[in-house]
Amino acid sequence: MSHFDERAQHWDKGDIQVNGAMRIAQAINNAIELHQEMEIMDFGVGTGLLGFEIAKSVKKVYGVDTSPKMLEKLEEKNTAQLSITPYCQDIIKEPLAQKFDGLVSSMTLHHVKNLEDFFTTIRTNLKQNGFIAIADLESEDGTFHSDNAGVFHFGFDEEELCAIVKNCGFSDVKFENINTINKPHKDFGVFLLSAKVN
Ligand SMILES: C[S@@+](CC[C@H](N)C(=O)[O-])C[C@H]1O[C@@H](n2cnc3c(N)ncnc32)[C@H](O)[C@@H]1O
Repeated sequence: MSHFDERAQHWDKGDIQVNGAMRIAQAINNAIELHQEMEIMDFGVGTGLLGFEIAKSVKKVYGVDTSPKMLEKLEEKNTAQLSITPYCQDIIKEPLAQKFDGLVSSMTLHHVKNLEDFFTTIRTNLKQNGFIAIADLESEDGTFHSDNAGVFHFGFDEEELCAIVKNCGFSDVKFENINTINKPHKDFGVFLLSAKVN
């Protein structure tokens, strides 16, 4: 069983997860004009903490995740009024054919090994003028997680990440601090990176 399969049962009980996702949803709403015609992918949707907030403002959210157990918890929360369609798939290895108006993501990018492959792939899943709004940790010293299994980046440096995103075919690249996660031993910054398809 994967790390996230093990954590799925209790994921929504974590204050850091729940409050963090709410802050990210607010920041995305401030940065992007979401509307009822939009179809959005939430990459690393987990149990849908961010995705369900976004779903309130758009036509449809599709949630991509590699953990079946996280997606099971998400599906328990689906209702007739508000739902997310899950895809249990590594979309970098097996890309989706579908095109979206935008991609949102919360705290998943540090689990993606090859960033160039990721940004190049997701660009092909975005419509013309599509956007990305990706939140994750600013550079950290490797102490955010108690176990760094599956963590490929100790947060991200603004300059390095923005350069990769631009090189992969995005413009209007913006990086802003949107939250601080206070842990007993240290504070950790969270950024929102937004950009448009060239
Ligand atoms: C830190 S959790 C965040 C979940 C959710 N976005 C939230 O904020 O509550 C990271 C999620 O990304 C998923 N994940 C990790 N690597 C992934 C990949 N390559 N493709 C899709 N999902 C991935 C994990 O299974 C997990 O659900």
